[in-house]
Amino acid sequence: MNITTEQIFDNARTHNVFTPQPVPEATLRQLYDLMKWGPTSANCSPARIVFVSSPAAKERLVACMGPGNADKTRAAPVTAIIGMDMAFFDKLPQLFPHADAKSWFVGKPEHIATTAMRNSSLQGGYFIIAARSLGLDCGPMSGFDNARVDAEFFAGTAVKSNFVCNLGHGDASKLFPRSPRLSFEEACTLL
Ligand SMILES: Cc1cc2nc3c(=O)[nH]c(=O)nc-3n(C[C@H](O)[C@H](O)[C@H](O)COP(=O)(O)O)c2cc1C
Repeated sequence: MNITTEQIFDNARTHNVFTPQPVPEATLRQLYDLMKWGPTSANCSPARIVFVSSPAAKERLVACMGPGNADKTRAAPVTAIIGMDMAFFDKLPQLFPHADAKSWFVGKPEHIATTAMRNSSLQGGYFIIAARSLGLDCGPMSGFDNARVDAEFFAGTAVKSNFVCNLGHGDASKLFPRSPRLSFEEACTLL
């Protein structure tokens, strides 16, 4: 694979409109098999992902989206729900076997919540980078009713939604002009 920084960063945009080109299940599996290697604290890996492609499941998700996000979610070939397993520590004996890491979390709801949000968000970033490295475009969104998504897609589990991300091949002709970023001087400090 010849992946460039332009493909991952400089030229990669947040897409609102996608071509009808489908995203095969094999590509979604490849995407997960890349993003899973991104680091998380104690290797806790709290992200859980639901790939929504079928029209019926799409409509269940669209009903949870904010008004500006509904149509583009319906139209995108795939929408991934990036969730976080609030019982992620149950898997630490498997994921971090050389220490009793589960005991660091049991009975500590604030530590659990902070760790789940921090690491599932990191994994969401790895998800976007992995998707771009495979030639896909992304449209991440947090404008939706989290409680409704949780009831609709994660009922009976300890998983809560973090954000959702449209996936496919973006229609570059429909992009807005790009917004600026903070300069190094504005965002960074050298000590
Ligand atoms: C976590 C997250 C949530 C976002 N939520 C929304 C959203 O609800 N609706 C929307 O239209 N764009 C949303 N965006 C898109 C951002 O506005 C966009 O990524 C940003 O302006 C950078 O655009 P660019 O990648 O084209 O430079 C979200 C992006 C991220 C990363």
